Amino acid sequence: MTAPGPAGSGVELPRLLDELERLAGFSDAPPPAVTRVLWTPADRAARDYVRGLLAAAGLTLREDALGTLFARWEGADPRLAPVATGSHVDAIPGAGRYDGTVGVVGGIEALRLLRRGGFRPRRSIELIVFNAEEPTRFGLSCLGSRAMSGALDPEAMLALRDGAGTPFAAARAAAGHTGPLESVRLPEGAYAAFVELHIEQGPELEAQGVPIGVVTGIAAPATLRATVEGEGGHAGAVLMPRRRDALPGAAEIALAVERAALASGSPDTVGTVGVFRVTPGAVNGIPARVDLEIDVRDVSLALRDRVVEAIAAAARAATARRGLGLTLVTLNADPPATADPQLVDTIESAAAGCGLAALRLPSRAYHDSLFMARLCPTGMIFVPCRGGVSHRPDEYVSPEHLAAGVAVLARTLQRLAA
Ligand code: HGY
Ligand code: MN
Ligand code: MN
Repeated sequence: MTAPGPAGSGVELPRLLDELERLAGFSDAPPPAVTRVLWTPADRAARDYVRGLLAAAGLTLREDALGTLFARWEGADPRLAPVATGSHVDAIPGAGRYDGTVGVVGGIEALRLLRRGGFRPRRSIELIVFNAEEPTRFGLSCLGSRAMSGALDPEAMLALRDGAGTPFAAARAAAGHTGPLESVRLPEGAYAAFVELHIEQGPELEAQGVPIGVVTGIAAPATLRATVEGEGGHAGAVLMPRRRDALPGAAEIALAVERAALASGSPDTVGTVGVFRVTPGAVNGIPARVDLEIDVRDVSLALRDRVVEAIAAAARAATARRGLGLTLVTLNADPPATADPQLVDTIESAAAGCGLAALRLPSRAYHDSLFMARLCPTGMIFVPCRGGVSHRPDEYVSPEHLAAGVAVLARTLQRLAA
C-alpha cells in the first residue's frame, strides 16, 4: 500500500473540517463556544453523530457500560492484541471545538486514509471515543479511561454525585447505559499500544514553528474539593464582629493555592481555583457556604504533593482562625505517566516519513492517555494550536496542522498494526 503522504497529503481536509464543524454544533453554548458535558443531550447527540461516522467508516461498534465507544477495524490475525487510538468529545463549559475532537474525528480520518491507501492491518485497530475526559459533571477527570484501567472501581463510581446532587447510577441510567460496571475494566495486555492525537494546548510548537509534537510524558494532576461553612444572615443587620462569613475564608484558600504554586520553585507547578461557588449568592446575603474546586499539577509528583499539602495546611489554618467549618476532599491525585520510549521513536520516525519536523515535549494537560499508559505502551501526537490557547472559544488549529497530525497518526498506526 501507499504510506500516508508527505505533510498530510491524502487527508480529505474539507470533509474533516466539515465533521469538526458539525460536531461543534452539538453544544450548550452559542458558537464559537462549545459546552458539552457528560450525558447531557448535547453530549449524547455528539456521540450519536460520531457513532454514525464510525459506522460509515466500516468499523464494528461496541459500547461499554459507561458509554465509551470502541470501533474496530478487524486485522488479519485475530490472535494479536489490537492497536488503539482515540480521544474524547466532551468539552468544558465555554471551550473550543478542537480539544479531544481532533483525536476522534482525526482518528477516523486516519483510518479512512489507511483504507483508501489499500492498507490491510495484521493487528486489529480500535478507535476509542472516551466518556467524560473532562471532570465537569462528576468532578473526576478521565472517567472512562480511569475505570478501564482499574484506577476507579464500581464502588467509587457509585459514590459519585454531580453538582445538582444526581447520583452516578441515576445519571448513567438516564443516559441509557446499562450493564455491570465491573465489565468496564480491561485486562492488562488488552491493547498492544495506544496512541492519541491531540492539540498541544500550550504554546511550544507554535513558538518553535514545528508542526508535530511527540509527547514524552504527562504531568501529574490532582483535584481537591473544599467546602467552607460559616453562618449566613442579613448583610445589613449582622454587624462585622459577629460574622462568620464563609467567603473571606474561602478567599484565603484561593490565595494559598496561588502562593503555594508560586513557592514550589519550579516553573512546572500550576495551581488553579476554577470553581468558587457562593451560597446563597445574593448581594445582600452573608455567604453561608463556599464550594471550591482546586486543580494542582506538576511534572514532578513530589513537588505536586508538597503543594497539595501546603494548600491543605493553609486551608485548615485560615478556617480555624475564622471559626469556619472546612471539608477538604482529594478527588484525585494521579501519578504522572511516561510515554513508551519505543512508541516515541515510532511517532518521530512517522513524522519524518511524512517530511514533518517533530519536537519532543511533555504534556502539561492530562488526557485519557494518562490512564491508557497503565494498560499498554502509550504515546501521544500533538499539533500546534494558535497562541497555545485552549479551554476557550477562540481555540484554533490550522487545517494544515490538522492534516499533518492525521497523516502522522495514520503512519504510526500503520507501523504498529502491520
Ligand atoms: O484539564 C485537562 O488537562 C484536560 O484538558 N482535560
Ligand atoms: Mn480539555
Ligand atoms: Mn482533551
